[in-house]
Amino acid sequence: MHVVSISSQKGGVGKTTIALNLGLALARAGTRTLLTEFDAQGSLGLSLGLADRARAGIAEVLTGAETVQKTLQRTRDPNLAVLSVGRVDPTTVAGFEDALTRQGAIQQILEAVKNEGYDLMLIDCPAGLGKVTTRAIENATHVLSPLQAEPLALRSVGQILALVDRIRATKNPKVEFLGFVLSMFDRKVPASLDVAETLWSKFPPGVVLDAIIPRDEAFLEASLRGAPISLMQKKPPPLSRRFDQLANDILDRINTTEKAPAEDDTPIPLLV
Ligand SMILES: Nc1ncnc2c1ncn2[C@@H]1O[C@H](COP(=O)(O)OP(=O)(O)OP(=O)(O)O)[C@@H](O)[C@H]1O
Ligand SMILES: [Mg+2]
Repeated sequence: MHVVSISSQKGGVGKTTIALNLGLALARAGTRTLLTEFDAQGSLGLSLGLADRARAGIAEVLTGAETVQKTLQRTRDPNLAVLSVGRVDPTTVAGFEDALTRQGAIQQILEAVKNEGYDLMLIDCPAGLGKVTTRAIENATHVLSPLQAEPLALRSVGQILALVDRIRATKNPKVEFLGFVLSMFDRKVPASLDVAETLWSKFPPGVVLDAIIPRDEAFLEASLRGAPISLMQKKPPPLSRRFDQLANDILDRINTTEKAPAEDDTPIPLLV
């Protein structure tokens, strides 16, 4: 099972939106996908309209009150299941994060999930490169990083690459950086284009994925309705095609890295 950690140094860049819509696109492409969230905010479960926080999830698994098998939630797509964060009282977030990052805790969840026959697990991380994100990457096979197309975002590029490099050198030699995915891209805003051009010109080809997620009001509407974009209309809107493309890019990359382990181990040059 591939484990893709969706992580970014900055908050509010589209991690949860991408996790949700990418999960659905992967499932539509025939990949048995498990969507998980390690973010105590529980935005993923909320965005899916899963009966608020009444449903048990990772928090209950960590306390031993539930098993992983019992907390897996099926969706309308037989290829997509969800393991939400569960009931985390806003006053006990630190305790939840301590339990989740305890040595072996994430490993145990992954072991339990491995028997369920998923091809790929997506982890929606909380904002930042703190201990939860670090642990997620230590246990992942791949990292995907959404990047908002704005000038300040360039500063965060080096930080996640450095973290992945450090984890690869110490705890998890297998983890691969899949790439940055430009999110909330607005072609009418010159700064957006500048950022994209800087990324494309300064990095080796492929560090920034080809699929771009545009800024679109539909995402706001979708999150209000608690539904991924493609479920909002009978006929899939063009936006959902972006996620199909992203899903394809990612599956291609995962398969390529599997077949031919990277010979070139030189770190990706940092921008800042
Ligand atoms: N492409 C987009 N176009 C317009 N709005 C978007 C887009 N992607 C996300 N949003 C909106 O931006 C806000 C932040 O997105 P999201 O929650 O996905 O980010 P996040 O990285 O998961 O945030 P956090 O770091 O807090 O977990 C949400 O209100 C979401 O609906
Ligand atoms: Mg989020």
